[in-house]
Amino acid sequence: MIAATILGFLTVFHLRANAPGISLGAWLVCIAGLAGCGGLVLTAVTVALIGVHVVGVIKNHPEFIWATFELPSNAPLLPAGMDPHSSDPVSAQSYPLYKGGTPADQSNFLPDKMSIDEKTQVVTPVTNVFQRFVDGGATPQADKDAITSSNANFQAGIRSHKDKIDPIFANYRLTGTTWLLAGTLTPGDGDMVDEAIGSIDLANATMETFEQDVGENCFFCHDTAGIGKNPGKNINTSHIITSQLRRNPKIEEAR
Ligand code: HEC
Repeated sequence: MIAATILGFLTVFHLRANAPGISLGAWLVCIAGLAGCGGLVLTAVTVALIGVHVVGVIKNHPEFIWATFELPSNAPLLPAGMDPHSSDPVSAQSYPLYKGGTPADQSNFLPDKMSIDEKTQVVTPVTNVFQRFVDGGATPQADKDAITSSNANFQAGIRSHKDKIDPIFANYRLTGTTWLLAGTLTPGDGDMVDEAIGSIDLANATMETFEQDVGENCFFCHDTAGIGKNPGKNINTSHIITSQLRRNPKIEEAR
């Protein structure tokens, strides 16, 4: 209700700026109406944060440093040496995102059709998930060691600052990080995925579930290539920006 009321106020202030002729009383009735309707529609729910991407620019790296964290308890890790398309189960044990005994080749797939129950917000069918690459495929050993020590450091740091941060955040694990050679970001580069350094197979099992393949990493989708008639730009690494660029509707229709 509080959120709906704030939303109602913001909407009305915005509308008022565009339609100053209407009396304050009429606007107050509008606010009450919006808040009432919003209160009926909006419900507070508790959700779990099971995975999170963290990206940021540092000196000489305008491409952003791409890191991802998740709960190691989400899903099993593919056992070393096992074929990711094997008909053997990845694990006998169940995890929140993996039913024990599910074969590897029946996991991590994108269903042909998905539906969502709007009331319960449950998506069907359920996809069983496993994490394919340890440390996002980081090589050499020094990079793997850096991931291990970063995890140990930040988790210990969180646990020892309980007054400042909820120790629950120490349950997350950095899977890995990827970046480009310093100062090499250029507009119109569709090969960034092959130029990645660090965890070159980086994916978050909760988000890139279906895109965990050798040599696939964040730059597989986040690059500076042009889109349709829109030119290649460094800012294109952001999908929030590029999702606003419209492709040729005729091509979209024909696809
Ligand atoms: C298969 C394609 C794909 C891969 C691989 C991918 N992403 Fe994304 N990413 C997307 C899409 C699509 C969105 C936009 C989602 C939306 O608008 O709701 C997005 C959004 C984001 C955003 C929000 C900011 C923005 O403007 O794009 C961040 C941060 C992000 N991804 C980080 C990562 C990281 C880190 C990795 C690698 C571990 C990664 N992504 C791998 C497709 C991908």
